[in-house]
Amino acid sequence: MTDTAASHDSIRALKWQGDHLRLLDQRKLPQRTEWVDCTDSQAVVQAIKDLVVRGAPAIGIAAAWGVVLAAQQGADMDEALLALRAARPTAVNLMWALDRMRARIAAGADAQALAVEAQAIQDEDLAANRHMGQLGAALIAPGSGVMTHCNTGSLACAGFGTALGVIRAGVSAGRIAEVFAGETRPWLQGARLTMWELVNDGIPAQLVADSAAAHLMKSGKVQWVIVGADRIAANGDTANKIGTYQLAIAARHHGVKFMVVAPSSTVDMATADGEAIEIELREPSELLGYGGTRTVVEGARAWNPVFDVTPANLIDAIVTERGVIEQPDALRMQALFGA
Ligand code: MRU
Repeated sequence: MTDTAASHDSIRALKWQGDHLRLLDQRKLPQRTEWVDCTDSQAVVQAIKDLVVRGAPAIGIAAAWGVVLAAQQGADMDEALLALRAARPTAVNLMWALDRMRARIAAGADAQALAVEAQAIQDEDLAANRHMGQLGAALIAPGSGVMTHCNTGSLACAGFGTALGVIRAGVSAGRIAEVFAGETRPWLQGARLTMWELVNDGIPAQLVADSAAAHLMKSGKVQWVIVGADRIAANGDTANKIGTYQLAIAARHHGVKFMVVAPSSTVDMATADGEAIEIELREPSELLGYGGTRTVVEGARAWNPVFDVTPANLIDAIVTERGVIEQPDALRMQALFGA
């Protein structure tokens, strides 16, 4: 581990305890640090649905441990795999991790061997993030300002983070002088989770309202927007947290560069383009109130898509642990990821 990784990598959202999975409850942060213990795979399904654990890589890792729990308890494995797969639709890391676990089951793996596979998925994610941190930071000119969206940090992964990993590495290398994080309405992943991670790490950062993004870019304070991904299609179109698309449009308008950082487990070469990506719709109640208190007039309705798709032509670089694709398109994606 490099010094950078060690000093900026203390938070862990998932802890395997041998017979249960302990999850840092991301619904409660930053006010309360509470853990949820999942003792069976159904509890893992519920934790993913309820956003106790969230972020594409973390969802995949949690699901892998859910498979281990099912095997330990002699549950119906097909049923467990199906329920885990249906927990959330957009982040392909979930399906990728379950396909990997299913292949091990097909090869005759017992619960112990499945635990080795789940641990490998978790360890590989951390290693990928550290590598992407170096690759992404190298693209950024010294002294730059950056903006990020949602939470792509240790909380969203095995550790270190994807986009936030690039920010951690970039700050350590002196390439990033200033960080702006968008609130990420309505669930406030940016305000509640990213700011918590940045403050914990002593990284100079300022929160902005999502609606301040274009004004911020016009000011010249940011040179890069750096975001994560939930699914990258075969042509480079990228699904990520709702609001990412409008950031990419504003970035192009203002000459700000746009970077997507995601491990290869987020790349879905079986999905031709962004049109084919299922966008999760969540309950209107997430928009109509906050913290259990209704903030909008009774009788009002709401539409709550929680992801959007940024077309590849608005992306300057996709950073993966396998390498960087600049100006992504189907050919360049295929060159790195195959058919
Ligand atoms: O709804 P969430 O919080 O699971 O959405 C998370 C995101 O959109 C992240 O940007 C993405 O999963 C990448 S996390 C490394």
